[in-house]
Amino acid sequence: MSAQIIDGKAFAAGLRARVGEGVAAFHAASGRVPGLAVVLVGEDPASAVYVRSKGKATREAGMQSFEHRLPADVDQDDLLAVIDRLNGDAEVDGILVQLPLPPHIDEQAVITRIDPDKDVDGFHPVNAGRLATGLDGFVPCTPAGCVMLLKDTLGDLSGLDAVVIGRSNIVGKPMAQLLIAESCTVTVAHSRTRDLAGVVARADIVIAAVGRAEMIKGEWLKPGACVIDVGINRTAAGLVGDVDFAGAMSVAGAVTPVPGGVGPMTIACLLRNTLISAHRRAG
Ligand code: GUN
Repeated sequence: MSAQIIDGKAFAAGLRARVGEGVAAFHAASGRVPGLAVVLVGEDPASAVYVRSKGKATREAGMQSFEHRLPADVDQDDLLAVIDRLNGDAEVDGILVQLPLPPHIDEQAVITRIDPDKDVDGFHPVNAGRLATGLDGFVPCTPAGCVMLLKDTLGDLSGLDAVVIGRSNIVGKPMAQLLIAESCTVTVAHSRTRDLAGVVARADIVIAAVGRAEMIKGEWLKPGACVIDVGINRTAAGLVGDVDFAGAMSVAGAVTPVPGGVGPMTIACLLRNTLISAHRRAG
């Protein structure tokens, strides 16, 4: 038996088209075009690729894209001054500072400087708190995209056993919050988890966000499980996820591919958050 391959690329294309329609309607009603500002510090090639594709997707959705490139040795105060300017700029609905930042910069100081109501990444502690307490805020884009793919594949998630492998602020922790809100029974596993294979074996939903190439083995899975692979690992053989894809295909019910699964959902959800921000700020 072979699992369904979850087509994140196609789902993301549909979401981007819907956001584009929403942007046109917002413009017709308000006379304003929503804007997303992206800040890139340094020359990290992977970050530069992400920032370019975010800018392109923003323009394709009919929104304004503002790009701010700062040198790798930028003074932290100068970076904070750029954020202050963007916080006060009425044309800017969303602010994203591409991570990781160079080691001399205090990442938390930068994230907490962003106005929580323009924090379309959902990384500000105020938005983490809103998510944990069920208040409206911004939900981090990658976990939000994972939940959309899960609901599209499985329908109602209520009562399902979910394991999230990884406990980062960007993916693992918000992912667990979102699954709790969907009434799943949630286990968060990580590098110190004993018997990871045993934990995975109980799960109807597996979210792999550890950042280790093909670490999650197909034979660990419960037959029919839905597997969402957040990993993007560059290996000699090319891009691979955190899940052994071939092994998972013969046991799971549905699996996201890498690339073409979760990745495209992240940018689509970023555009969606920016449009939501424009509506709230007009509100
Ligand atoms: N670096 C890798 N993923 C992300 C993301 O979703 N947002 C930001 N700001 N930086 C990232």
